[in-house]
Amino acid sequence: MTTMKQYKIAVVGATGMVGRMFLRVLEERKLPVSEYFLFASARSAGTTVEFMGKKHTVRELTETAFKDLGVDIALFSAGGGTSKIFAPIVAASGAVVIDNSSTWRMDPDVPLVVPEVNAHTIPQYKNKGIIANPNCSTIQAMVPLKPLSDKYGLKRIIYSTYQAVSGAGMGGYSDLENGLKGEAPKKFPHPIAGNVLPQIDVFLDTGYTKEEQKMVDETRKILGLPNLRVTATTVRVPVFHGHSESINAELEKPFELADIRSLWEHTEGLIVQDNPEKGLYPMPILAADTDPVYVGRLRRDFSVENGINFWCVADNIRKGAATNAVQIAQELIRQWEA
Ligand code: A2P
Repeated sequence: MTTMKQYKIAVVGATGMVGRMFLRVLEERKLPVSEYFLFASARSAGTTVEFMGKKHTVRELTETAFKDLGVDIALFSAGGGTSKIFAPIVAASGAVVIDNSSTWRMDPDVPLVVPEVNAHTIPQYKNKGIIANPNCSTIQAMVPLKPLSDKYGLKRIIYSTYQAVSGAGMGGYSDLENGLKGEAPKKFPHPIAGNVLPQIDVFLDTGYTKEEQKMVDETRKILGLPNLRVTATTVRVPVFHGHSESINAELEKPFELADIRSLWEHTEGLIVQDNPEKGLYPMPILAADTDPVYVGRLRRDFSVENGINFWCVADNIRKGAATNAVQIAQELIRQWEA
């Protein structure tokens, strides 16, 4: 009998919003791991985190921190600046970096992966030792759009998002919590409690925000459709967990709504919640702390030839970040073992 190789996994940013979820998802999914190493900034180095029934000491991420550890996979969620400097250093130590920041996503040498959609691009990590985890809003949209792209062809997509504060990390979460008690915001430019902010990330010269541009660029890269017509409006709403999206898609070919519903019912990672008469449709409150992507409110867009509107919700810290990254790690290990 052959025994499966045991891997060494590091989590960088282990004390952050996504980092903590990395640990929970790793606990749930039971990867073949012999040793875990947790990293954060000097601020939390030396503190301990309970994980896999053991106390782990958080280490400071430095240029030499990975030397001689023999780490196979490093999951990063410690901000773009940290990834830019440390992902290449950690990759040079022999680890494959799965990076949750936007830094490497559009690098043509770096695969941008949603495992249900384009796991076949994972081997491109060999170029730089880095795999990028897409933006949270993009990830959840890819799961229902990929089967539509394959069966009917996509002509144009319009995204309108309703994004939870947890997408902005611990700071975003605290702004809503404290804002509900009347305190002024620290992370967001305006109060988020009782408000809606039509700004996520910074504004670009085009008038779009960086978050909106990410959705456009990443959608094209993941679906392998560089000329796809895509546009987006991304909005922060006073919800703690779960991003919602209104997606309008124009398809190339005619369709029956029942066929799309059935296609989605057979799509991995996707759950159809679509019974408006009974008040059933996806909502962040139902999606929170679960891994699937939920779709519903499917209806025909009568203003164009082959158009649909639907509503799509997922837990942004799980499928939108940690779960997707851990799924990439699982797929990577599966490909190594094959
Ligand atoms: P720390 O807790 O030591 O500041 P969030 O996005 O939820 O705020 O989390 C950010 C995560 O990234 C935290 O774990 C944070 O660690 C980590 N981090 C921030 N800057 C660095 C850095 N320069 N080196 C390593 N980890 C960092």
